[in-house]
Amino acid sequence: MLDLWYKNAVIYCIDVETYMDANGDGIGDFIGLTQKLDYLAGLGVTCIWLMPFYPSPNKDNGYDVMDYYNVDSRLGTLGDFVEFTVQARERGMRILVDLVVNHTSSQHPWFQAACKNKNSKYWNYYLWSKQKPKDIKEGIVFPGFQKTTWTYHPEAEAYYAHRFYDHQADLNITNPEVRAEIQKIMGFWLALGVSGFRIDAAPFLIELQQADNICEMVDDPIVYIEEFRKFLSWRQGNAILLAEVNELPEEQSRYFGNGNRMQMLFNFWANQHLILALVQEKAAPLIEALARLPEIPEVGQWANFIRNHDELTLDKLSEAQQEEIAAALAPDQEKMWIFDRGIRRRFAPMINGDPRRLKLTYSLLLTLPGTPVINYGEELGMGDDLSLPERHPARTPMQWSSEPNGGFSTAPSDKLVLPVIDEGEYGYKHLNVSVQRRDPESLLNWMERAIRMRKECPAFGWGKWQILETGHESVFAHRCEWNGEVAIAIHNLSSEPSHISLTLTDDKGSYLVDLFEDQPDEEVLKISQDIQLAAYGYRWFRVRR
Ligand code: GLC
Ligand code: CA
Repeated sequence: MLDLWYKNAVIYCIDVETYMDANGDGIGDFIGLTQKLDYLAGLGVTCIWLMPFYPSPNKDNGYDVMDYYNVDSRLGTLGDFVEFTVQARERGMRILVDLVVNHTSSQHPWFQAACKNKNSKYWNYYLWSKQKPKDIKEGIVFPGFQKTTWTYHPEAEAYYAHRFYDHQADLNITNPEVRAEIQKIMGFWLALGVSGFRIDAAPFLIELQQADNICEMVDDPIVYIEEFRKFLSWRQGNAILLAEVNELPEEQSRYFGNGNRMQMLFNFWANQHLILALVQEKAAPLIEALARLPEIPEVGQWANFIRNHDELTLDKLSEAQQEEIAAALAPDQEKMWIFDRGIRRRFAPMINGDPRRLKLTYSLLLTLPGTPVINYGEELGMGDDLSLPERHPARTPMQWSSEPNGGFSTAPSDKLVLPVIDEGEYGYKHLNVSVQRRDPESLLNWMERAIRMRKECPAFGWGKWQILETGHESVFAHRCEWNGEVAIAIHNLSSEPSHISLTLTDDKGSYLVDLFEDQPDEEVLKISQDIQLAAYGYRWFRVRR
């Protein structure tokens, strides 16, 4: 039997810098994070995805790497990192780390060496052009913050390519030495105990550019991904690649291949349509989105999420749909909207912290076909700080307690890496782990129970899924079957209680066991079953035969 740990995993994303500061310098660190592993294990997390923690000038939250083989000294040492992985493993948790190799920081010694000397081997690590190539149409990733994708470097006397900020020079993937280097980086972190990589900006990584120094021409650069996957699997059979690929569903298949490329892809498509469905209080956008997803190989898996560390991008939706969402979730566009395509807020404030809608949404996250990915602080319904620039509003420090700085750090508050939210409804004094632990109705305690239930229903992660007819436009219902086990989840997206008649063609004669409420098992007497749902209500059932 295939034993694919990531199919029933619960992934939790952490930025070490803002999680827990153990030495009181205002910056989160590996020692602090290690102290919080029991909290994460208690929540039910089985896999931690660490955002970049490498030495970096930190002009893009660490996605501008200066040294792939080290830990940023502000966060700790390699020794602290290894100790952290050992302690995580003790608690049954795996680690994924960000592999940011579409580009390096312009302060990376490779780039510096290339600029100084065209004959250096590092020249061909990057993409150069004597003349300024035309900017790729719609190629600017950070509109409003980034002007071009080719910048002149006076010392190099040439233009270098950068799909992101100009301080993030694109690596030349057509250079076999660059690919060997990438494999070496993977090998290094695997040897230190990680279980795989989040592949940053995957489509850009394999894009062939108009540079003068392309080293080899291949028909389809996706072969480079196969090369990485082969390396990975030979080094460590159960390690995975989880790729950031925000493309149309039809384009996504090729990133899975026949199971020989990425194992996991973030489900941006489902995410954007889920948000639309929540705003419209209608199931159709989500149903249609799931229907358009490609078939994926047996070892493939979707990584579902509600909010990540970037903007909530809505770029795959029509302009009218984007406007509809913006009007509902980001009414102050000036402050809340970014890059002409997304929202800078955290999820809880977007829905005014409504506990019913929070639970509804995270219940969807935990049951949609795929593996859930939770961003730190989501389990508390943390808020945002819109006075911060760019994507930072959603990146404030974790709120642990009512102590100064939310218990994140003992440093003076003006020394913190980012300010803690200290005012209003989302301020740390009332919104924190310690308060929510004591409240049986809190989101944190709900999340812990829901995660436990999700893990006990592997059909959601592994199963063949189908949409069930509900006869109600606001209700989304689906059924997952795996190894003879059937799990059903029903979500009422509307603010009105609903009565539905659920079509259960395959389950007549069985019983529905409610997994959250203390309800008697319901016998499925007819193919259509009457079900009651509260406003924004959700129900999970196991089918007992
Ligand atoms: C990815 C990251 C984002 C970063 C970009 C450039 O999109 O999620 O945070 O800015 O890559 O590395
Ligand atoms: Ca620190």
